Amino acid sequence: DTVESVIVAIDGPAGTGKSSTSRAVAAELGLSYLDTGAQYRAITWWMINNGVDVADPAAIASAAEKPAIVSGTDPDGPTITVDGADAAGPIRTQEVSSKVSAVSAVPEVRTRITELQRAIAAAAPAGIVVEGRDIGTTVLPDADLKIFLTASAEARAARRTGELKGADLAATKEALIKRDAADSSRKTSPLAKADDAVEVDTTDLTLQQVIECVVTLVREKQQAT
Ligand code: DC
Repeated sequence: DTVESVIVAIDGPAGTGKSSTSRAVAAELGLSYLDTGAQYRAITWWMINNGVDVADPAAIASAAEKPAIVSGTDPDGPTITVDGADAAGPIRTQEVSSKVSAVSAVPEVRTRITELQRAIAAAAPAGIVVEGRDIGTTVLPDADLKIFLTASAEARAARRTGELKGADLAATKEALIKRDAADSSRKTSPLAKADDAVEVDTTDLTLQQVIECVVTLVREKQQAT
């Protein structure tokens, strides 16, 4: 008999611990890992570098197919390249963070990136943990397990401030709230909890507790099938 592969979708706003949780769960269970936010950041970085006006959706749409975006899915060392160049560092700048919501709201961008995501998930040998905003609702609606992570705005801002060198708590909180509002209110495939997702509020949980919770849920699914 063939071993069934397992597809896990983890969605939620910024700063809920999605990346740390998803990577650790994938590593523990021997699954691949895909950070879909990194793909949207990568296409945004390319637009900035190539003089595309990110305030002009038509300009973004007509460039959406141009960059080659390649994601490495090893949870112990995920990678991302744009036209062959390592993009892992440059996609984490404030400039990219402040422009990614506008770029990722353009339907042509979402179609392009969603196709990449589905191909990567289908090719993962043992299964995959895919983290993002619309994975359970749009990208992989048949995922075996859907998780929606939440946390208070204060907790999310505090976590992000800890991650970014020299970041200011109040400014980080304001930027996060602004980005979540944009991501939740866009027309195409907004940040949303799927009806069949398990919601986990991480405000008062340690990262280790969240990881254990999700690993347990995956194992329960695997035993049920
Ligand atoms: O996860 P992140 O903060 O790195 O994501 C960056 C942005 O990418 C996020 O603000 C919105 C967009 N995004 C998206 O629209 N859909 C996804 N599945 C993942 C991210």
